[in-house]
Amino acid sequence: MAEVQLVNVHKRFGDVHAVANMNLDIANQEFLVMVGPSGCGKTTTLRMIAGLETVTEGEIYLGDRLINHVASRHRDVAVVFQNYALYPHMTVYGNMAYGLKRRKFPAADIQRRIKEAAEILGITELLDRKPRQLSGGQQQRVALGRAIVRQPAAFLFDEPLSALDAKLRVQMRSELVKLHGRLQATMIYVTHDQVEAMTMGDRIVVMRDGLVQQIGTPKQIYYQPANTFVAGFVGSPPMNFIPCELQRTEGVFWLVAPDLRLPVPGELAGALQDYSGSRVLLGLRPEDLHCEPVSGSDEFPVVPMTVEVVEPLGFETIIDLNTGHRSLTARVSPRVEPSPGDRIPVMLNIHRLHLFDPETEKRLPA
Ligand SMILES: Nc1ncnc2c1ncn2[C@@H]1O[C@H](COP(=O)(O)OP(=O)(O)OP(=O)(O)O)[C@@H](O)[C@H]1O
Ligand SMILES: [Mg+2]
Repeated sequence: MAEVQLVNVHKRFGDVHAVANMNLDIANQEFLVMVGPSGCGKTTTLRMIAGLETVTEGEIYLGDRLINHVASRHRDVAVVFQNYALYPHMTVYGNMAYGLKRRKFPAADIQRRIKEAAEILGITELLDRKPRQLSGGQQQRVALGRAIVRQPAAFLFDEPLSALDAKLRVQMRSELVKLHGRLQATMIYVTHDQVEAMTMGDRIVVMRDGLVQQIGTPKQIYYQPANTFVAGFVGSPPMNFIPCELQRTEGVFWLVAPDLRLPVPGELAGALQDYSGSRVLLGLRPEDLHCEPVSGSDEFPVVPMTVEVVEPLGFETIIDLNTGHRSLTARVSPRVEPSPGDRIPVMLNIHRLHLFDPETEKRLPA
């Protein structure tokens, strides 16, 4: 197993700057997830690491080895794609053996590796079947098996679960995490699904338009998003954004909008001295708007809002609220059952607020 390092990596397709100045250190045995909207450069990055795409500029290392010009088959990485690309005329066993045979592994070794991988994946019973005799989830396991038998230095996954139905996807998600624990392998996993990113990754790389927006643990990404893009991309329903002015009165900072006047908690105020009088973008996650008392909420500022839509989801309820000036979304316990049209007091957990510079979109204080 090995670490993977990208240094100032660029990829251009003609005028398209698909990946721009990417710097990334992936630790040995890390599970790193790359996430971002369609077209942001995830697949291109993975393909450069796999050697399926040339690097326009910059360096890629696998362990200590510069691999820019190493042929794909000599890179010791295994890729699992969204379309499993199994050979339809070969059995499961044949599919798993193919890459090893091509690399001239001894027959006994091939047999042993396939047996082990099949046991890990629970597909021992399926080894004699052809791909068309398998369900989507089973085909996905075979595609994984084909990668596992190679015992590569790193596994690269490109949206491997997106063809599966929602339930199977959740199941395979946890199986992959377990597999990572068991193989102790370096894994780079590409998805546009922020839930997969949050639940699977040791660390997450958020990308947009070929540019890395933030690299961090799921907690860092969620609780300290580096900019408004990351803040809005991760979390569902997404964060509420409210343009405010930061005003200072008698040493206390206030976030002021036509419908709001919220004190900035003391722990944050110290670092905001330079921003007095500035326009800022306030971010509040839906779970930080409370419609019933919770621990600590007697200190939260209260804003009356009108209930617009109530969406009970069973384990939680999403409520669209209106302050008179704007709509905000709250995520509350299913115990809370207001009706559309109700005017209710909403408690805002200002200790969890986020501030951003509306010009640069970056998190404040810098
Ligand atoms: N072979 C190519 N020739 C020209 N442009 C390309 C090529 N491959 C990718 N691109 C462009 O590079 C950008 C990044 O594409 P990429 O496939 O890496 O996105 P992605 O993040 O994987 O998106 P998705 O979530 O849709 O898979 C896109 O603008 C895409 O159109
Ligand atoms: Mg892609």
